[in-house]
Amino acid sequence: MLVTVLGASGRTGFHVVRLLRRQGHDVRAGLRSQGRGEQVAALGAVPVVADITADADDLVEALAGSDVVINTAGASDPDPSAVNLVDRDGAISAIRAAEKAGVARYLQLSAQFADSPDQGDRLVRSILLAKQASDAILQRSSLTWTLVRPGTLTDDVGTGRVKVGNHLEPGRVSRQDVAAVLVGALTEQLTENRGFDVLGGDVPVSVALAGIG
Ligand SMILES: NC(=O)c1ccc[n+]([C@@H]2O[C@H](COP(=O)([O-])OP(=O)(O)OC[C@H]3O[C@@H](n4cnc5c(N)ncnc54)[C@H](OP(=O)(O)O)[C@@H]3O)[C@@H](O)[C@H]2O)c1
Repeated sequence: MLVTVLGASGRTGFHVVRLLRRQGHDVRAGLRSQGRGEQVAALGAVPVVADITADADDLVEALAGSDVVINTAGASDPDPSAVNLVDRDGAISAIRAAEKAGVARYLQLSAQFADSPDQGDRLVRSILLAKQASDAILQRSSLTWTLVRPGTLTDDVGTGRVKVGNHLEPGRVSRQDVAAVLVGALTEQLTENRGFDVLGGDVPVSVALAGIG
């Protein structure tokens, strides 16, 4: 299976690439620029330039041939205009490019409360609104989709154990465990065409995903 990871140089994206490679998948690592190309190549992934705010045709080319796309990209600047450019418009371009490229399966790293931004932290409301818009496009697309909505991300070492659910109380989860959920979702059919919250917890990832119904 060829999986393209968008935002592969990011803190969560890099864990996703590492985990996919460990499981023997072919991985294309989509990078905004070639900056961390050597690091993803060292994991055995093939680096490609894939700026989700750039030309749509270039993005189609970057995704062509992929069985799966996992979008972990997010704006590095919290300014609403940057957030709208990357987390809303860029994420929508990536979805449209995946459709054009004939990709079957698409996973998007969203955020807890993106499905109800008014209930989320006011400090990140512009991010939640941007993700709400792109998440809605994904749900209406022709792709088999999954929306993973983590709480506040941490760089703690992953435990391999999480809590998932439709709407959980505000909480935190490590980037490593979120990566494990994204990769685990590829082999759990119950995650197809649905979104769910993820927090740190005490249930092994595969068991949590299998109980998602
Ligand atoms: N922080 C939280 O608590 C939290 C909570 C819930 C959800 N999230 C979401 O989870 C995702 C991952 O978060 P993170 O903290 O692990 O991310 P991160 O380390 O900030 O990495 C973000 C990645 O997105 C890439 N990116 C930015 N603009 C791009 C563009 N135009 N085209 C392609 N890639 C682009 C960055 O590339 P460069 O390396 O080139 O900058 C980087 O690889 C984000 O979508 C974020 O909104 C975050």
